[in-house]
Amino acid sequence: MSRLLVTGGAGFIGSNFVHYWLRQHPDDPVVVLDALTYAGNRSNLDPVKTDPRMTLVVGDIADTSGVEDLLRRERIDTIVHFAAESHVDRSIHGPDAFIQTNVVGTHSLLKAARTVWLAQSPHAAHRFHHVSTDEVYGSLGPQDPGFTETTAYAPNSPYSASKAASDHLVRAYHHTYGLKVTTSNCSNNYGPYHFPEKLIPLMIVNILHGRSLPVYGDGRNVRDWLHVSDHCRGIELVLTRGRVGEVYNIGGGSECENIQLVTLLCRIADDTFAKDPALRERFPASPAAKGRAADLITYVADRAGHDRRYAIDCGKIESELGYRARVTLEAGLRETFEWYLANPAWWQAVMDGSYRNWLRTNYSTLSA
Ligand code: NAD
Ligand code: TYD
Repeated sequence: MSRLLVTGGAGFIGSNFVHYWLRQHPDDPVVVLDALTYAGNRSNLDPVKTDPRMTLVVGDIADTSGVEDLLRRERIDTIVHFAAESHVDRSIHGPDAFIQTNVVGTHSLLKAARTVWLAQSPHAAHRFHHVSTDEVYGSLGPQDPGFTETTAYAPNSPYSASKAASDHLVRAYHHTYGLKVTTSNCSNNYGPYHFPEKLIPLMIVNILHGRSLPVYGDGRNVRDWLHVSDHCRGIELVLTRGRVGEVYNIGGGSECENIQLVTLLCRIADDTFAKDPALRERFPASPAAKGRAADLITYVADRAGHDRRYAIDCGKIESELGYRARVTLEAGLRETFEWYLANPAWWQAVMDGSYRNWLRTNYSTLSA
């Protein structure tokens, strides 16, 4: 039995992880610590909100003494650290928040864990799991092998640089103070509760509204798409069987160019509308009703410093921990499209005024 603190547990991946963990581990209480920024929503925890094992604490990971109190009060022995500023485009427009949360915030969390776990109860079992990204490894050429855990760090955006800094701090707290840490670096996630500023949910919502689908640059940048359920299983494997002090890469084995991905989503939308005539009435502005969602594809100016390709070599987690990605890209995208169709109230509510302002700023800057 473990007592978990999940930071960022009201965000996209964190909330999926909380749902997953409570399903798989009936004896484990889970405390969620989340500042509920624009990307964190109480409603992401709706499926578990009446579960007596789940508690949501609204707070900042940078509040060191508040986190120390929480660790003591809830007798936490495992931290799973998702909380972060996570959107590359936002990091280009405003890097400060990324340094504050991803670097200063992670350091504050490490300090709290060290104080409570190492200084005050040095013999009790503990684990600090840090969730990071493949973006710390930089950008690959078309023929390069995927990133391994020993690929040199070469972050290119303020987001990836801030995550790289946090990875190094986690590593240092293990080597210097003996904190029991693990880190996972994963590829691009997708699935339910994905905030509609990232590529896949933005495209889904825009297809439904009949708005243009902004594809940056030539659309040939490659990402390795990982269904969030596979990611949650990967983290569980690291937590339960991973070696302390180690790093594990987690990927989806689904490399795809952005334009291919957007085209596939358009085909899924057309198929789904063809099978369900009621969708035409629900979303009258969508060209998917006429089998023409792809008419919305619009090439726009490229992202500054846009990394060309990410790809993950999962050999270590596969051979050591038996991980395999289970969700294929097309099946995962179909399921995700269905989830957004079934949950319009969720995405309409999270797309509030501040978010709409962000879209206006971003796409008026980027429009070709
Ligand atoms: P997200 O933006 O959806 O969620 C982040 C959560 O952290 C939000 O709930 C937010 O309210 C919370 N948060 C932000 N600042 C906080 C603070 N100071 N204190 C407490 N909570 C705070 O992000 P996500 O996509 O779920 O990503 C989760 C983690 O996974 C991040 O560390 C990210 O770097 C990493 N990651 C994400 C992806 C991806 O494809 N989404 C890929 C690789 C790695
Ligand atoms: P994103 O979902 O922001 O994830 P990341 O930048 O962390 O990989 O973007 C995924 C890819 O899609 C990336 O190459 C940028 C591109 N993209 C677009 O072409 N248009 C968009 O509107 C967005 C948000 C992203």
